[in-house]
Amino acid sequence: MSATSGASAIPCLPDSDILWFSETRAADLATVSLAYETTLSALKLHAQGHFDQPLKPFVRPGGLANEYDRGRLISMPAFLGGDFGSLGVKLIAGFPANVDKGLPRASGLIALFDPNTGAPIAILSCQTISARRTAAVASICVDFLAAREPLRIAVLGAGPIAHETIISLLLSRQREIDSLSIYDPRSDRAEALVCLLAPYTESLITAAPSARSCVADANVIIAATSGARGYIQLDWLTGPWLVVALSWDDFLQDVMLAADKLVVDDFDQCNREEMLFGHLVQSGALAREDVYAELGEIVSGKKAGREARECVFVNPIGMAIEDIALASGVYQIALGLQAKDAGRSR
Ligand SMILES: NC(=O)c1ccc[n+]([C@@H]2O[C@H](COP(=O)([O-])OP(=O)(O)OC[C@H]3O[C@@H](n4cnc5c(N)ncnc54)[C@H](O)[C@@H]3O)[C@@H](O)[C@H]2O)c1
Repeated sequence: MSATSGASAIPCLPDSDILWFSETRAADLATVSLAYETTLSALKLHAQGHFDQPLKPFVRPGGLANEYDRGRLISMPAFLGGDFGSLGVKLIAGFPANVDKGLPRASGLIALFDPNTGAPIAILSCQTISARRTAAVASICVDFLAAREPLRIAVLGAGPIAHETIISLLLSRQREIDSLSIYDPRSDRAEALVCLLAPYTESLITAAPSARSCVADANVIIAATSGARGYIQLDWLTGPWLVVALSWDDFLQDVMLAADKLVVDDFDQCNREEMLFGHLVQSGALAREDVYAELGEIVSGKKAGREARECVFVNPIGMAIEDIALASGVYQIALGLQAKDAGRSR
């Protein structure tokens, strides 16, 4: 064989061994309940240390200062132990300026690998997977850390993350939701989301005219915005509150510093220069000891959730193990369906 011929001496996997999940297929299989279940399991395994998850590198073509206009690409590799035994990486691009062009802000892929051989086994489009696991995290925060009273929920932002979060909150029958208020400076987006969701709930659901009016009466405030910075003031909030900061920059420092409990998903992931906690730690306003718990410690019962009339601030930065857990759940379901089909055609 000549050195220039196309044949390779490297043993190859057949292409058919790598399953491909289009966005539609991944979204069909990654149900809201599967997302909740796998995310909860991933958080528990996080608390037990059964994972390997390096700090995620960010690539910013225009630098941090131009991230809104020029975007970023994040690589999120992880191994998740326990019943999962899953190895993979999410590559997620966030281009906020896309939204005004009618394109999604975020899109990406998850690659799963056989943990025994390292061979790639699946590639999944991950817009929905990523959004549903994020929504599941918010739902879990509400279940474990919100006041035990009817919920008055304020959602800042009306993009896909807000949408999936509200769906996840509405689908659980355990919660009593009195009202849902959504604010987005693009009022058309907030109104469209209200119209979309209204048929699914008997709760009062409204588009708020301002961020302040949105949060004023809320006991749960969830931020899922992009491009917004330091505008939610402590005196806008009525305690006791639960804040879930899915986006990082909405709240002024004094809101975080006023919380009775500060919770993160993973301290090391959150304590980075460009992140909310990183800023506070660098300025000396906050130290690791000021963080009450990582979310996994609460969901696995190692630490108590909300007690009495506490105000709780959670900053779940988003972990690769949550994506890998849900992608792996989707992959297992697809293998089951494939085996069923094969059984039928025999
Ligand atoms: N923590 C996590 O695990 C995680 C995971 C995925 C996404 N996110 C974050 O969630 C956020 C939302 O994602 P998306 O895909 O829905 O984004 P998106 O850009 O599609 O939607 C964000 C919306 O926020 C609105 N907005 C801007 N400023 C606002 C303000 N001051 N008040 C209220 N709304 C405002 C925008 O008009 C837009 O409609 C992003 O910041 C993203 O990085 C977090």
